[in-house]
Amino acid sequence: MKVITVGNNKGGVGKTMCSFQLVCHLAHLGNRVLVLDLDSQANLSSTLGVTIQRTLIPEWLIGDVKASEIMVPVEGDEEYSKNIKLIPASRHMANLAKLLILSEAEVRKNAGRKERLLKLRLKEVEADFDYVVIDTPPMLGDELIMSLVASDKILIPTQAQDYSIDGLEELMDTFEIIKESENPALEFSIVPSMVNPRRKIERQRLEELGQSFSVTPMIRNLVEMQESVALKKPVFKFGSKSKGRQDYEALWDSLGLV
Ligand SMILES: Nc1ncnc2c1ncn2[C@@H]1O[C@H](COP(=O)(O)OP(=O)(O)OP(=O)(O)O)[C@@H](O)[C@H]1O
Ligand SMILES: [Mg+2]
Repeated sequence: MKVITVGNNKGGVGKTMCSFQLVCHLAHLGNRVLVLDLDSQANLSSTLGVTIQRTLIPEWLIGDVKASEIMVPVEGDEEYSKNIKLIPASRHMANLAKLLILSEAEVRKNAGRKERLLKLRLKEVEADFDYVVIDTPPMLGDELIMSLVASDKILIPTQAQDYSIDGLEELMDTFEIIKESENPALEFSIVPSMVNPRRKIERQRLEELGQSFSVTPMIRNLVEMQESVALKKPVFKFGSKSKGRQDYEALWDSLGLV
């Protein structure tokens, strides 16, 4: 079972878009995919057709309920949706930090440190899935840190603008700390997101970024990507001339996810 987190502490950079396309792509290939929505905005859950009042993710993390009790099926064409199970988010996720403090005794008994809780819980479903894909909120909080400890890889959607690239430093520092202390096998790839390749400044910034980091092929800024989310229709269902489909195919290809 491979665990892939999509994360960036910067907001609105295309994390949920990338998560949605990745989940549907992997399921379409026949993989059994568990989707974990750790963002209390619950955008990925709603794109997969699921809205709930109150998530039990905090209770699952501290071991009060089992993953199988909180997983739900998703909407979409049977051909891929049958391979997907979702642990949905809701606004109550905002209570995660509070709950973890209140349950500190249990956390210590179970995992030693709260950053390890998610890794521990995912071990329990290891035989049931080929992939876990985690969408995370736009901050360097417990959700993202737990996900990094539990993951094989983090995909970091990044816009080709100065302030977006500058913000990467903080995330990369955290990545290095977690890699050294908790998860030496953790890998990362920066995914240029919502790029306008006609703008010279964006092309330059991407080239510079590629000199210091591992950068994948870019995802362009395209109206059809917004349609994909609005229609809850992944880009692989679009025609072969679709630029969005081509961009994502090149991305999965470069990551070996084919
Ligand atoms: N390649 C793209 N082309 C055009 N629009 C895009 C593209 N990718 C994402 N968008 C749009 O940009 C907005 C932000 O994308 P998304 O919700 O995926 O970002 P996010 O990083 O998950 O945001 P948040 O930090 O709030 O969770 C959405 O309206 C989405 O439809
Ligand atoms: Mg999001």
